[in-house]
Amino acid sequence: MSNIYRPTWAEVNLDHLWHNFEEAQKQNLTKKVIPVIKANAYGHGAIEVMKHLYDQGVRLCAVSLLEEALEIRAHFDDIDILMLGPVMESDILICSLNRIELSVYDEHIYDSVLKLGHHITCHLKVDTGMSRYGFRGVENISKVVSNLQKQKHINLKGIFTHFATADHDEMFYQKQLEQMRLILSSLKKVPPMVHVSNSSSTFKYESKIEFTTHVRLGISLYGLSLDEKKPNLKPVMSLKSRVVQVKELNPGDCVGYGATYCATEKERIAILPIGYADGWIRKNKTGHVQFHDKKYKIVGIICMDACFVKIDESVHVNDTAILFGDLVSIDDIAKRLNTINYEVVTQVSYRVPRIMIKGDKKND
Ligand SMILES: Cc1ncc(COP(=O)(O)O)c(C=O)c1O
Repeated sequence: MSNIYRPTWAEVNLDHLWHNFEEAQKQNLTKKVIPVIKANAYGHGAIEVMKHLYDQGVRLCAVSLLEEALEIRAHFDDIDILMLGPVMESDILICSLNRIELSVYDEHIYDSVLKLGHHITCHLKVDTGMSRYGFRGVENISKVVSNLQKQKHINLKGIFTHFATADHDEMFYQKQLEQMRLILSSLKKVPPMVHVSNSSSTFKYESKIEFTTHVRLGISLYGLSLDEKKPNLKPVMSLKSRVVQVKELNPGDCVGYGATYCATEKERIAILPIGYADGWIRKNKTGHVQFHDKKYKIVGIICMDACFVKIDESVHVNDTAILFGDLVSIDDIAKRLNTINYEVVTQVSYRVPRIMIKGDKKND
């Protein structure tokens, strides 16, 4: 949905995005940053995000699904696209034909890739402790690597793993890192790309890792982090909606489904055209939104397309509410919903147009 027929939108600040990319790059000048733009760039708009990165000279990215990879390929013919997620064996040929770099994470994919009659570029995914996708066992991995390297139709471009606890458990993290070191030392020939770090590891540990060439930057590209000590990042997304109607309540008047909130005195209520179908889920009812420089309480139950805010005399029809992105941060919302910032931004639904801005201005 690209047109705005109701005043609700998410602003995506491309200057902040680039600031965050450069912050990651600054930490590790000799390593390249792979922007992770899966899940519609964590809800920010994958094509627009990639376009901005492309304009700055970035020529690689990572996604999760083949659908995502193909969408990016349709817009960017000359970039490297790494697909981190699983692939159906029947779809490997599609990857080959579209120059999508495949994660080889288990025996079935390995066998299918060996049998493929077409050229394919792969990264071997190894499981160093997260028990998600990936090969296990140093000897086994070493055999798989040398066999892949022998095949004329296969370009084994990379080897990688993923950390389970980079943001909160250093001991577990170090065990995984050590396992990766062991795996690499068993290889006769290490593939040209070695990448292990997610956002947290990029900022906390990557500068001390001697064997990697790239990092995979996801959440921190969007200005967010789970680390206690926050890197110097700027949040990229803010969620906004304009007041479409103001209700003057008399004592005893009630608001919304279930009539759960009733006025005890004369009150003013702003109606915002955003609700749970936009990802503004019902659990947000305990929170606040911002008008001008002040926070105001959400009242009543959040509807599918609307919610209610108790306001004062200073708020009027057409005033802009910031649901998150200034006085209320994405992390505040995550705390409110008892979740992580990843979920807050990816939950903003397809109904909410993403408006790209630079500085404080719309990007025309
Ligand atoms: C394999 C892989 N690499 C990198 C990332 C990026 O992680 P983060 O968003 O924590 O930077 C993810 C995200 O889940 C992932 O699954």
